[in-house]
This record gives sequence, structure tokens and C-alpha cells, in this order.
Amino acid sequence: MDRFIIHGGKKLQGTVQTSGSKNASLPILVATLLTDEPCIIHRVPNLRDVRTTLKILEYLGKKIEYANGTVTITANGPLKNSLPYELVKQMRASFWVAGPLLARFKTAEIPLPGGCAIGVRPVDIHLKGFEKLGASAVTEKGNVVLHAQALQPAKIVLRFPSVGATQNLLMCACLIEGETVLENIAKEPEVDDVVEFLRKMGADITADAKGSLVVRGKTSLHGAEHSVVADRIESGSYIIAAAATRGDVVVENCVPEHNSILLENLREAGVPLEVTSHSVHVLPYEGRLKPMRMRTAPYPGFATDLQAPWMTLMTLCEGTSEIDEDIFENRFMHAPELVRMGADIVTEKSIARVNGVESLSGAHVMASDLRGGMALVIAGLAAQGATEIERVYHIDRGYEDLEQKLTALGADIRRYNPDKNEF
Ligand code: UD1
Repeated sequence: MDRFIIHGGKKLQGTVQTSGSKNASLPILVATLLTDEPCIIHRVPNLRDVRTTLKILEYLGKKIEYANGTVTITANGPLKNSLPYELVKQMRASFWVAGPLLARFKTAEIPLPGGCAIGVRPVDIHLKGFEKLGASAVTEKGNVVLHAQALQPAKIVLRFPSVGATQNLLMCACLIEGETVLENIAKEPEVDDVVEFLRKMGADITADAKGSLVVRGKTSLHGAEHSVVADRIESGSYIIAAAATRGDVVVENCVPEHNSILLENLREAGVPLEVTSHSVHVLPYEGRLKPMRMRTAPYPGFATDLQAPWMTLMTLCEGTSEIDEDIFENRFMHAPELVRMGADIVTEKSIARVNGVESLSGAHVMASDLRGGMALVIAGLAAQGATEIERVYHIDRGYEDLEQKLTALGADIRRYNPDKNEF
């Protein structure tokens, strides 16, 4: 299994380009199941989760071509309406195929995704929504079996604005004739990008004054071409990495507005920033940053996916910071690893108290999830000495060309495979 070896203490410098969003690419690729016509999706990052999604589409009966960030998806015979556990266990978002498959076949059988390192992550909000749309949802031998004589439009109020449930129900509703209203939905930019793609496919989706989505379903959708929105979690991670190393970095081709809470927090902590419509310039600063109180929340709140990288930055502040993780119940696995690197962090339930230290020092640590892994990379870049990070496969799920991008910014980071003893 690959590891990263980072020799830290170097200020990042230069320009980095933002890739297309992982979390928008996955549902957009899945949405192509709503049509048999060809779809072309640009700016799709080459990531493990994307490759898993493409494998799922191939399994279900699509033909895939993927080159230079562009995925072309065409029909390759009749579609299947079930997935094997092998594919679902690799990635929770595999469950998002339920919506389009139910809409097309009135029946679908998808293995129930298990919990994952960051929390239990049930799918009850998805299933309640499908039931409102006229389907029965029964769990049999670990599979969710969805079945409907006929699907019907409905008004669905989500118990919590789940990103995945919003996208899953939205895709399903696009092929149910009549008016479906989705209330208390997720407002993440990735949801907007899916809406934009579905509209290009011919879907009739509007937002009402309260921000609910109104879907007037069609009997069929057509093929479409789309370019995926910039990855705000990737751009946010590089912005934080630049700040943690007191670097001088321009993050290009991003949408700063999608990172506005992060940028506000950084400014307040003392990081100088120059922001344009499509770039963020992180400038060097003197002295230590101010400690901050932050809580994660659904968009436009502070993204839970940036909580771990943010914690790394807070380890270097002068004073005590507080982080309240309100979205996932077990998302502090990076904290004990950061402590191994000299950080002073105490966690209790959803709260982490971070007592800032003057510097971090390199150590042997282990990534246990994607964003927690990135927090360790950022810590390794800021730390004095060498850091070895195990289980890099978590990080590969979500950061395209990470070593190349960081190396171009002057970092000393190498991938190492101890089994093959090769760099
Ligand atoms: C998506 C993102 C993930 C991000 C998360 C929150 C993708 C592929 N992943 O995940 O990176 O961290 O949004 O911004 O886009 N919940 C339930 N029942 C449900 C669904 C969710 O209780 O049916 C809970 C979850 O356990 C979690 C919270 O709601 O505690 C948020 O989950 P959700 O917004 O659904 O996250 P995902 O869509 O899985």
C-alpha cells in the first residue's frame, strides 16, 4: 500500500489549478442513467471514486470512454437495475444509482451501504423519499429492494438537508410525470451542478421563493454535454495548505464564492487573501494566527469536508480554538494523528479543543479517511522534519494529481510503496 513521505517546513509558492468537483462528478455521471442517449461530461477528475462510478455505469450497461478529463457515456445494450455488493462497498455514493434506476424500471435492488469510518451514515432520508414517490422499500439479505406499481409525484420534506438524498430524489423525480416538490433540501454547489446538468438533459426544475426545488417530471430525458463545477473542497484544501505553510499561493480556476465561509474565517484568523471571481491568492503573514471557533453546517455553513484540514491550521494558532463537528458523529480520527505530530487537541463528543503550538514535527501517521488524510498531508507540509503517511488510498479517492500539484508548489512529497520498495 502506498505511503507519502513529506519533508516539511517549506513555504508553498506558485499557482495551482483546481480540478473538477468529485462530489459533483459522481451524481452527474450517475444521472446519465436517466437516458439512453450519449452524454459528454468534461472536467471529470481522475480519482478512485470516479473510476468506481465509471465501473458501476459499465456494470449497469453503459459504454464509457474517459480521456483527458472528458467522459463519454453511451448505451451498450439494455440497462441492469441492480448492483453487486462488491461495487457498493467501495463507495457509499454507489447508492445514488437507486433514484435513476427506480425511475426507469419501477424496481431496483441495491445493496445497503454500510457505515463508514466517519459515521453510521444511514439512507433513511433517501428511502422515506422513495416511499413518498410511491415505492416500497424493503431490506432483504442486505439489499434495499425498491418497487412501485406506478411512481407518483409528491411533496417531500427532508428530515435533514442530506446532499445524497437531495440528489437521489431529484434524479428520480425528473422521470415521474407531475409536480414533485423537494423541501428542506441540501443547497451545496454540487447539488446546483446536478440541477444544471439535469436541465441540460431536458428536465424541468425550478427553485421556489423558499429555495425548495419544483420538478415537473417528463416521460424521458435526452443526452447532454456538461462541464463539472470546480471542486471547492480541493481549492479549500490548497488554500489552507498555503496558509499553514505561510506560503504565497494562487489557487486558480475555483469559485471563491463557494468557499466564502472558509475565506471569512481565514481573514479573521489573520491570513491575508486577495480574491477575484475565479482565484484566491493566499499571501504570507507574520506572527501566529488568531484562534477561532468554528462549527460545521450544511452549505452555506462551514463544510464538514474542510473540518479536518482546518483543524491542522488551528493547531498552529496562538491560543485555543474550538471546532464543533455537527454533520458526522465520528469525524475526528485525524486528531490523535495530529497529536503524534506535536499538536495539542482534546476531543469530546462533537467538540475538539485545539490548543495552538508553535510548530508541528514530522512523525509516522496513518490516514483513516479522505479529508482526515489531507489534514495529515497539510500537517506534514507545515511540520519540521519528515512525515510518513500510511493508507494514502483514502486520499487518492478525492485529490487529483496531489503530489504533482504540491511538488509544483515547491513541496517535497513523494509516494512510496514499501512492499515494492520503490518511490
Ligand atoms: C456528501 C458528500 C460528502 C460530505 C457530505 C456532507 C458526496 C459523494 N459526498 O455525502 O463528502 O461530507 O455530503 O456535506 O457528495 N444522513 C442520514 N440519513 C440519510 C442520509 C444522511 O441520517 O438518509 C446523515 C448522515 O449520516 C450524515 C448527515 O446526514 O450525518 C449528512 O449526510 P449527507 O448530506 O447525506 O452526506 P452524503 O450525501 O453521504
